[in-house]
Amino acid sequence: MGRMQGKAVLITGAASGIGAACALRCAREGAQVAGMDVASPAGDGWSQVEKAAPGAMFVTADVRDEAAVEAVVGQVCERFGAIDGLVNAAGVAGIGSAADLDVAEWDRVMDINLKGSFLVSRHVVRGMAARGSGSIVNLASVEGLEGADASVAYNVSKGGVVQLTRSLAVDYGKVGVRVNTLCPGFIETPMTEMLNQEALKAIRDRFVAMHLLGRGGKPEEVANVALFLLSDEASFVHGATITVDGGFMAGRSLTG
Ligand SMILES: NC(=O)c1ccc[n+]([C@@H]2O[C@H](COP(=O)([O-])OP(=O)(O)OC[C@H]3O[C@@H](n4cnc5c(N)ncnc54)[C@H](O)[C@@H]3O)[C@@H](O)[C@H]2O)c1
Repeated sequence: MGRMQGKAVLITGAASGIGAACALRCAREGAQVAGMDVASPAGDGWSQVEKAAPGAMFVTADVRDEAAVEAVVGQVCERFGAIDGLVNAAGVAGIGSAADLDVAEWDRVMDINLKGSFLVSRHVVRGMAARGSGSIVNLASVEGLEGADASVAYNVSKGGVVQLTRSLAVDYGKVGVRVNTLCPGFIETPMTEMLNQEALKAIRDRFVAMHLLGRGGKPEEVANVALFLLSDEASFVHGATITVDGGFMAGRSLTG
């Protein structure tokens, strides 16, 4: 029997990268899967999810649009009866330092990464609280735990996601809803693909070298931890901030 048998999950950002890997991992472990994204799934990613989880649904919607989020949550509950697990993986990168960043760009990054996670959690947690069970996994980043250059909006939005998790954990743990944060390091996804450009390659190589395992991660390696948190195996893991970063946050090698 799959580790997610009998559970229904909603995954935002499911068209790509970490969200897509979470959808496939959950499907292969027996979950009923709903994906939500502003974009359509790339390649044959979603057909693999449907193959593993017949009845899987994919909805195009923006996490910033509260009415759309509410409608999607309603549709998923109608289809699957309830939502047992939520992964907030929708997100965008954001480049710029405080003095130069357009305020509109600050708003865009904060609205998608932080407000979007809040809005989806808000609508999903109501049903979970009423039923007395559920698991929410929020995608923050190592950049929500420490600063990085020219990333003010991204840093702050992801720090906010860490705090959103803690706040939800305090409010909803007592009614049986577990909430945890994952903080990935450098993961090979479309989000980090831009660092493969020749002009940015040196930055990419420096960043990857800071991971003590000497490599970037794969979306599936984040999905494995998300799956654990969504499953009953993590029944006493709550309010945690878990790095999935090949040792990035543990420290730096000074000798090379
Ligand atoms: N890739 C990394 O190195 C890395 C590291 C740390 C944290 N993260 C976080 O993990 C999450 C997933 O990132 P990824 O690397 O898979 O990126 P990705 O770009 O591959 O996937 C992100 C998905 O979010 C969707 N999205 C963007 N704005 C949206 C909106 N307004 N409404 C709904 N969907 C929206 C995109 O269309 C895309 O499909 C993000 O929150 C990201 O910040 C990624």
